[in-house]
Amino acid sequence: MPNKITELFEIEYPIVQAGMVWASGWRLASAVSNAGGLGVLGAGSMYPEVLREHIHKCQQATTKPFGVNVPMLYPDVDKLMAIIVELGVKIVFTSAGNPKKWTSFLQDKGITVVHVVSSVKFAQKAEEAGVNAIVAEGFEAGGHNGRDETTTLTLIPAVKEKIKIPLIAAGGIATGRGILATMILGADGVQVGSRFVASQEASSHDLFKQKIIEAKEGDTHLTLKELAPVRLLKNKFYEDVQQTYAQGASIEELKNILGKGRAKRGMFEGDMEEGELEIGQVSSIINDIKPAATIVADLMSEFNLAKKETAGL
Ligand SMILES: Cc1cc2nc3c(=O)[nH]c(=O)nc-3n(C[C@H](O)[C@H](O)[C@H](O)COP(=O)(O)O)c2cc1C
Repeated sequence: MPNKITELFEIEYPIVQAGMVWASGWRLASAVSNAGGLGVLGAGSMYPEVLREHIHKCQQATTKPFGVNVPMLYPDVDKLMAIIVELGVKIVFTSAGNPKKWTSFLQDKGITVVHVVSSVKFAQKAEEAGVNAIVAEGFEAGGHNGRDETTTLTLIPAVKEKIKIPLIAAGGIATGRGILATMILGADGVQVGSRFVASQEASSHDLFKQKIIEAKEGDTHLTLKELAPVRLLKNKFYEDVQQTYAQGASIEELKNILGKGRAKRGMFEGDMEEGELEIGQVSSIINDIKPAATIVADLMSEFNLAKKETAGL
């Protein structure tokens, strides 16, 4: 299915597996790349030397292109970038920060740079910074997100109107119909997060994967906007946060309750009560844990079926 995104990344299908903390290591990324999508390592939860190991293993497990996601909130971004350049990674997704800082440095080394945004304003800034493509992530998405609560249905056409570079839609996409819908809205490709957390190869804890497939409508909420807005699955930790809000929480109190290592504790170590569980609204329609290659194949066959079914509209 050749289009701007498959050509940019040299892949078969315009499906990017989101780089995600505590979920997307080399097993998931290489499985998605081998299946014809773009696998992405989530460097945000890796020490620099851990990233080095994941890149090495990914290079051994696939000959296809793969990328690395680097949230710029990360304290040692320069160390991660040095490893990415040294090991010859060809695609970098930057998020949670200013794209100006790293774009030309990476591009000068032949690396394709994609930046993740959640608003038209930041999409325009990213285009001005010279990135090769943009991921526009709607309010439905799992993990960290914008404060404005702009849904994917609103964000994609709005961004499309203002930018010329390739556009990747994210947030709430877990079906082939979702892919088709966002393409009709103007996207050239999709970034899929939550669906891939519930895959066999994701490094997330099995108890977390089980919670995702049990999740129902209304079980997630975008919270902690004063620190860094994040969509969480409701659990005891989430209820504690809400109680702190009800008592008129200060930023310091929110920081205290979040503490350190909450995300690892929940998503990686499997503490379903006290851990932070990042997942999207779309978890309510994810009902099984599948191999990543099956997810990619199912997304594409649903997409092709949906295209046929809607051809006569
Ligand atoms: C568990 C989890 C961890 C995430 N970690 C990151 C991250 O490290 N960097 C990033 O740019 N986005 C991160 N995200 C957001 C995803 O990259 C992606 O844009 C989002 O999941 C798409 O929405 P969806 O979950 O509805 O598919 C994360 C999402 C989840 C669910």
